[in-house]
Amino acid sequence: MQSQGEAKKPTLTITDNRTGKSYEVPIENETIKATDLRQIKEHAEDFGIMTYDPAFMNTASCKSTITYIDGDKGILRYRGYPIEQLAERCSYLEVAYLLIHGELPTKAQLADWSTNITAHTFVHENIKKLMDGFHHDAHPMGMLVSTIGALSTFYPSAKHIADKAERQRTFYRLIGKTPTAAAYAYRHSMGFPYVHPDNDLSYAGNFLSMMFRMAEPKYHPHPVLEKALDVLFILHADHEQNCSTSAMRSVGSSQVDPYSAAAAASAALYGPLHGGANEAVLRMLDEIGTKDAIPAFIKAVKEGHGRLMGFGHRVYKNYDPRANIIKRLADQVFEVTGRNPKLDIALELERIALQDEYFIKRKLYPNVDFYSGLIYQAMKFPVDMFPVLFAIGRMSGWLAQWAEMVDDADQKIARPRQIYLGHDKRDVPSAAQRG
Ligand code: ACO
Repeated sequence: MQSQGEAKKPTLTITDNRTGKSYEVPIENETIKATDLRQIKEHAEDFGIMTYDPAFMNTASCKSTITYIDGDKGILRYRGYPIEQLAERCSYLEVAYLLIHGELPTKAQLADWSTNITAHTFVHENIKKLMDGFHHDAHPMGMLVSTIGALSTFYPSAKHIADKAERQRTFYRLIGKTPTAAAYAYRHSMGFPYVHPDNDLSYAGNFLSMMFRMAEPKYHPHPVLEKALDVLFILHADHEQNCSTSAMRSVGSSQVDPYSAAAAASAALYGPLHGGANEAVLRMLDEIGTKDAIPAFIKAVKEGHGRLMGFGHRVYKNYDPRANIIKRLADQVFEVTGRNPKLDIALELERIALQDEYFIKRKLYPNVDFYSGLIYQAMKFPVDMFPVLFAIGRMSGWLAQWAEMVDDADQKIARPRQIYLGHDKRDVPSAAQRG
């Protein structure tokens, strides 16, 4: 019984008009439990009411303390820290530590974390042989997905997911080896020899070295480009329950090893509506070609012929805060590399779209991908490497989300329900009776 003065816990009353019965279900965190609806039945033997939510438009699949997004206000925070401050004041490895461990590292913790990740950047020689087996024009993202999955066979003890020491080693390996596999995918496609990791360099600097070092005995990354890449990794590190993170959690919920779950997450990121969007932005800018072609292009989009790639977001109904940071970063990068001629088209496209009733009404603003491709291209990354770069940054977020899921007592193997609308029972006809 409720004691005097104790606030009544919020509830929702639902009346089933089929039976006239009312049900009271608790509201916690502005949410009701879908399983609380199962008590609502027309007949005692019924399964009970379910919710129908394709694409999870309004279903929370977990409780999380990692990333906060307010899509209407354009806010993104990791563990409470605004993305703008993290991008300005932290390195990617500090942010990766923050996502996984919940707090920013002390100096000693950061030194230990960086040393361990650096110590795990090398890959087994057989990984190189595996990558050699790909066709010369294999997409680097396809190579990365397969290589991340293959790592599970090199480290079979990673399946002991409750063992904290084992888990920690897997984090070091996946964060350490993903840039190596990513760079090797590029080198393979170019027919260039693989470049060993250079452990004197920063995380981003070493990746640039493995990508672009040729005959020089030591690669010296340009500090502006090295910093820009590090910031891009930070901006891509986590974005709560997006498609690839949901894949990481869902596949991981079968208690498979984290390498296999991360391969599934990378596969989800491969798609053009997710990690492939910045590639699509560049192709679109190429297709538009010149500034005077923009009005006709916008008109075609408004008439339903294609989309303005790099615009719109399921969650952000305001300027994506990452797009703001990237736009500033682009200026710094172009001072070093020279201006990407497509920038003028992008800026003009944005200017026109943001004044257009169609885009205003639908709250369509530039997302993280609208400008990131221009920076990557100026830094000489080929277009098909763009989703691979995204995967490097996102790996720490996937691992943080995976660990949170594994430790969450509420979680079980992911297993959605369906509404069956197929045939009722029928008998198998002989081949002669068919058709
Ligand atoms: N260009 C033109 N119109 C658009 C665009 C766009 N980029 N995005 C949405 N719309 C329109 C839709 O046609 C729809 O109009 P309607 O109401 O008249 O039918 C309305 O805006 C709502 O669009 P939805 O598709 O319902 O929005 P949803 O949340 O499902 O899609 C998505 C979000 C996939 C990002 C979409 O905006 C899109 O396709 N954008 C282009 C691709 C892109 O940039 N993806 C990167 C996402 S960020 C990331 O993954 C890192």
